[in-house]
Amino acid sequence: MKSFEPPTIRLLLGSDAVAYQRLRVRGLAEHPLAFTSSVDEEAARPLAWAVQRLSPNAQRPHDFFLGACSGAELIGQLGLEGRYRPKERHNATLLGMYVASEAAGRGVGQALLEALLARARALTELEQIELTVTEGNRRAQALYERNGFRVWGVRPQAVKLDGQAYAKIHMVCRLR
Ligand SMILES: CC(C)(COP(=O)(O)OP(=O)(O)OC[C@H]1O[C@@H](n2cnc3c(N)ncnc32)[C@H](O)[C@@H]1OP(=O)(O)O)[C@@H](O)C(=O)NCCC(=O)NCCS
Repeated sequence: MKSFEPPTIRLLLGSDAVAYQRLRVRGLAEHPLAFTSSVDEEAARPLAWAVQRLSPNAQRPHDFFLGACSGAELIGQLGLEGRYRPKERHNATLLGMYVASEAAGRGVGQALLEALLARARALTELEQIELTVTEGNRRAQALYERNGFRVWGVRPQAVKLDGQAYAKIHMVCRLR
């Protein structure tokens, strides 16, 4: 990407699966500490898995992924995954926030997060969104805090990478 134009934020669909999976694997490879999923896990998933993840499902109305596009190129993405047991239906989890390094620091993450929160607020059954961020990922945590997420707990030694354990900070955002 040579010059930067404000990205278009849009819903990702099954037809975006190849670009989604490519960007996802790239993010996991570049930032292994930021994500719980590993590159190997993701790379082992068939394309059909990503197609299904991105295809609207009436049984799972709180699940969706948004992409930031610069022209035809996908440069950022994030998603929401609902919980569907009757007593938990008002909860969803934000996941997979990644902006390609060459597009970072220009408001793409902010635009993605704003769009996700606006869409989530329009889902009448949904009341709160949770996420986890690896302790020390201050940039991501600050972005979430600026957008209404607050820390409610820390899970010590939540993930291990190369034998080293890291805590995960748990955050929540009330939607209404
Ligand atoms: C964390 C991440 C998603 C942020 O995305 P981003 O697009 O860089 O975020 P934004 O540009 O919206 O905001 C980040 C910073 O850029 C600044 N910024 C926003 N618009 C800007 C602009 N037009 N010009 C310069 N800086 C700008 C923001 O003020 C913010 O400042 P700070 O973080 O330096 O304090 C991205 O860096 C990333 O993918 N990181 C690796 C994966 C990761 O950690 N994911 C989160 C997992 S929980």
